[in-house]
Amino acid sequence: MIIAETERLLIRNWRDEDRDLAFEINSDERVMEFFPFRRNRAEADAFLERVRSMIAETGLGFYALEDKATGAAIGFCGLARTDHLEPFVKKGTVEIGWRLSARFWGKGFASESARALLVHGFETLGLDEIVSFAVHNNIRSTAVMERIGMQRVDGGDFNHPGVPDSHPHLQRHVLYRLAATEWRSARTV
Ligand SMILES: CC(C)(COP(=O)(O)OP(=O)(O)OC[C@H]1O[C@@H](n2cnc3c(N)ncnc32)[C@H](O)[C@@H]1OP(=O)(O)O)[C@@H](O)C(=O)NCCC(=O)NCCS
Repeated sequence: MIIAETERLLIRNWRDEDRDLAFEINSDERVMEFFPFRRNRAEADAFLERVRSMIAETGLGFYALEDKATGAAIGFCGLARTDHLEPFVKKGTVEIGWRLSARFWGKGFASESARALLVHGFETLGLDEIVSFAVHNNIRSTAVMERIGMQRVDGGDFNHPGVPDSHPHLQRHVLYRLAATEWRSARTV
């Protein structure tokens, strides 16, 4: 299942041959710096299966990014409904999120895929808004949010309820948002 195509990437559902990459991006210390968990091989395989089924069943989820030049997966970028962040994010709001192998940082792949997914979300799915959130000092991630035109929500910072007290430095999150109306008017400028 192909969701979108960009100049350099295919945004598609996962395949069995993506398992090594899924393990890499769920276990690498650099990639997982802002997450309170790491996944072992079995857990990463289960993650891939979970996400693959969600995409097949709902059309939403963290899609695999394939580098068209090599045919290999390099990470994910996706759209997913948040259902666990009330009252900070209304249940059902769609978030955009990303995680790339560190081997592919600094090449513009995250922003390229995210821009295509904004088109998919606003034009194909007809969403009214898309949000994104990150640990407050995850500057690489908030830079992607800003590059694709999202704006930080004033007063929107929150302590993520899913981050355990054992990791207090990962609790404070910033919230970004983009409304379909703002996205459309920025596109026509
Ligand atoms: C967050 C993350 C996806 C950002 O990746 P990234 O590669 O920095 O982001 P982009 O794809 O937007 O790339 C931008 C960089 O590529 C550079 N670049 C190089 N070639 C480029 C090209 N052809 N087009 C655009 N940018 C290019 C840009 O100059 C920019 O460099 P800079 O960071 O030195 O300013 C990545 O750091 C990651 O996976 N982090 C770990 C997981 C994570 O924390 N996820 C977010 C949780 S909320």
